[in-house]
Amino acid sequence: MISERNQFMVDVSGTGYAPNDRWSPIVVPRASILAEIERLASEPRPANGRRAALVVHPQATRPGLGFSPGIDVTINVLKPGEETVPVRRNSNQLEIVIGGTGVVHAGEREFGVETNDIWNVPAMQTYSYRNTGKELWPRLSYSNAPLLEKLGAHFFEENPAPVVIDTEIATTTQQKNKYARENAPDFAVTPEGARLRGYEFLVDIEVLESKAIHWPWKAVWPHLRSSGNPDARRIMLLYNPATERRNGTTHSFFATLAGKEPNREPGPLGRGHRHSSVAINYYFLGSGGKSVVDGVTYEWGVGDLMLSAPSWAEHAHYVSASPVGNTTLTVQDHPLHIAMESLIWQEEMDGPILTLGSQAGVTGYVGPRRKGK
Ligand SMILES: [Fe+2]
Repeated sequence: MISERNQFMVDVSGTGYAPNDRWSPIVVPRASILAEIERLASEPRPANGRRAALVVHPQATRPGLGFSPGIDVTINVLKPGEETVPVRRNSNQLEIVIGGTGVVHAGEREFGVETNDIWNVPAMQTYSYRNTGKELWPRLSYSNAPLLEKLGAHFFEENPAPVVIDTEIATTTQQKNKYARENAPDFAVTPEGARLRGYEFLVDIEVLESKAIHWPWKAVWPHLRSSGNPDARRIMLLYNPATERRNGTTHSFFATLAGKEPNREPGPLGRGHRHSSVAINYYFLGSGGKSVVDGVTYEWGVGDLMLSAPSWAEHAHYVSASPVGNTTLTVQDHPLHIAMESLIWQEEMDGPILTLGSQAGVTGYVGPRRKGK
C-alpha cells in the first residue's frame, strides 16, 4: 500500500537541479556615489557615528541585501573629526578610500589611510574609524554579510568588551591539557585515507594569525606600472598570508588591481570567459571603457562601480586608452569558492570547465584569451 506523501518531502526523482537565478550586470555611476556621499554628510550624525548606505542591486532580497547575492558594498562617510563606535562582527571586510584621510583601528592594529589605499578587516576583530583630515572621508567597504544573513549566521555587536588573550598562558595550558587536539584520538581507518578523529579537532582548531593588513596606494602603484615582460598581465593580487593557498585578501574575497599603461588601446572584441565566483569592478583611475556580459554591452566611466561578472556569466572587458593609464579594483568571492570546492572556471568558451584548487588550473595566458609565446 502506498502511504500518503509526507508533508516534509519534495519529490525530485528524475529531475536535475534548479537553474540559477542570475543577477543582471549593473553599473552604478560615479555621480550617484558622489551624490550619496554628499547626502550622508548632510544628515545629523547617528549615535553610533556610522554614516553609511548600502549599494543594493535591484534583484537583491532580504535577508542579506547586497550588490551581488553574497557580497555587499557600503558607502561609508565620516566628516572631519568624526569617529565611529567600536564594532565587531563575524563578517570580513575589504575597504578602499575614495577620498580624504583617516585612521583605521582593527584588532591590535592602527594605521592611517589616504585615497586609493586598501585594507582588510578580519572577522571578530573590533574596528573603528576616525577622520583625521580636513575633508570628508568616504570609503567603499565590501563584506560577506549578505551570505551570513542568508545563513542566519551574522553576528554583530557595538562596543564589545575587550578580548584579552595571553597567548603564552593559552599555549602552556593547551599543552598540559589532556582534552586538547594534541592529545585527542586520531585513527587511520582505511589505507585510502579515511580517519576517525576526536571532537577536540572540531573545537580546538589550529590557529592561523589573521590581522588587518594595509596596502598603501603609494607602495602598490609602482608595481602596477612596471613589469619586465611588456606582454605580461598587469593584474596583481593583494595577498593576505592568512588565506594561504586560497590566495585571498580576506577569507571570502580576493582584491586585484589591474593596471594599464597610458595610451594603450583595448584589445580586439572577442569571446569572454566565465567563473562561478562573482566579480565587482570599481574603475577608479583612467578614462572608462565597456564590458560585454552575456552578449550585452555595458559602458562605464571612471569612478563607476559595476557588478561586472555575475556568477557563470560570460564576460570580457575593454578598457579605453587613457593618458594617465587605468586601474580597476576587482573583488571576487574566489577564496570562499575554493574553500567549498565550487570554484569552476572556463577560460575559453569552447574549452574545459576546470575546478580550480582540485584540478590543474589555467596556465599559459598573458592576456584575456591570449596565449603567451
Ligand atoms: Fe573574469
